[in-house]
Amino acid sequence: MPFSSEELAAISTPAVLIDLDIADRNIERFQRYADASGLNVRPHIKTHKLPAIAQMQLKAGAIGITCQKVSEAEAMISGEAEIRDVLITYNIVGREKLEKLRALSKRVTLSVVADSTAVVDGLSETFTNEPQPLTVLVECDTGARRCGVLSPEATEDLAAYIDAAPGLAFGGLMTFPPVGQETSVESFMREAKTRIEARGIAVPVITSGGSPSMMHAADAPVTTEYRPGTYVYNDRSLVARGACGWDDCALHVLATVVSVPAPDRAIIDAGSKTLTSDLFGLTNHGHVVGRDDITIDQLSEEHGRLVSNGPIGLVVGQKIRIVPNHACVVTNMVDAVVVKGHGRAVPENWVVAARGKIT
Ligand SMILES: Cc1ncc(COP(=O)(O)O)c(C=O)c1O
Repeated sequence: MPFSSEELAAISTPAVLIDLDIADRNIERFQRYADASGLNVRPHIKTHKLPAIAQMQLKAGAIGITCQKVSEAEAMISGEAEIRDVLITYNIVGREKLEKLRALSKRVTLSVVADSTAVVDGLSETFTNEPQPLTVLVECDTGARRCGVLSPEATEDLAAYIDAAPGLAFGGLMTFPPVGQETSVESFMREAKTRIEARGIAVPVITSGGSPSMMHAADAPVTTEYRPGTYVYNDRSLVARGACGWDDCALHVLATVVSVPAPDRAIIDAGSKTLTSDLFGLTNHGHVVGRDDITIDQLSEEHGRLVSNGPIGLVVGQKIRIVPNHACVVTNMVDAVVVKGHGRAVPENWVVAARGKIT
């Protein structure tokens, strides 16, 4: 981390630190892989919610960004960053959101997904009198069992439905697959594409995503685009999966020891309102940088409990850095992050523009 000990001492905790040099390296690494594999990159900005980091991703070669929610997209395009192309990977349901989507479509090149005729009908009613059709991709369930149509046959039917719907243009296929399931992505998407093209409908984009197996994205050659999110910061979950090392983690939570009530136990000022309770399939609540012997075994809202097998060796007032289990949810907990790197002489506070934009 490029923060000096004097700078860390001056930061009020709990705080979220971002090392822009590490973030940049992470962005470049995947961009190089994607370029070599003929894949377009469309990063999911839910990890950072910062237009300035989206700008770094675009500058490195990304073709646009992915957002999860309409309000998140609104916040991302409202700043100085030149974001012109947005995919929202979410079923947009409800009049208010649809109207916001319509307004958004006048400001950027916009595409969304749908996995049912009910969602498509709402989009079509909203865009039927618009001069430009809205691009809609079919979301496919290639094994993750979240949203998505269940089979290539159902994908073909929904693609044809979108193609015929007033106000809409069929844009291709989208999936968020389970980790390491490139083979299922390839077989599902290849069959769906063949079926749709046999109807005389083009399939311009096939987009997949996820950081844990992003370096295997090209193992599904039918894919044209990839949407990594967490890769920009990395976190304890990605280290646990072997996708990166601790030195690749660009986001740290800085916390202060506020109590050492027993020789083997210390309490920090970061609890579930900073680190979140998201275990993300792991046990315990984060990794204390440089202290493999310490476990963060319990959180209450504003307290984190650190335990060690031997003497904990921490004192009240000492600052520690933590790699959280899941970086993306931590981003949504703070108004601003403290950034350094990229030639900055001093740390800066960056307001997390899309923080809390969950509608
Ligand atoms: C639709 C979609 N695309 C892409 C991503 C990015 O995944 P990751 O953060 O693993 O890179 C997510 C993550 O939640 C997602 O929901």
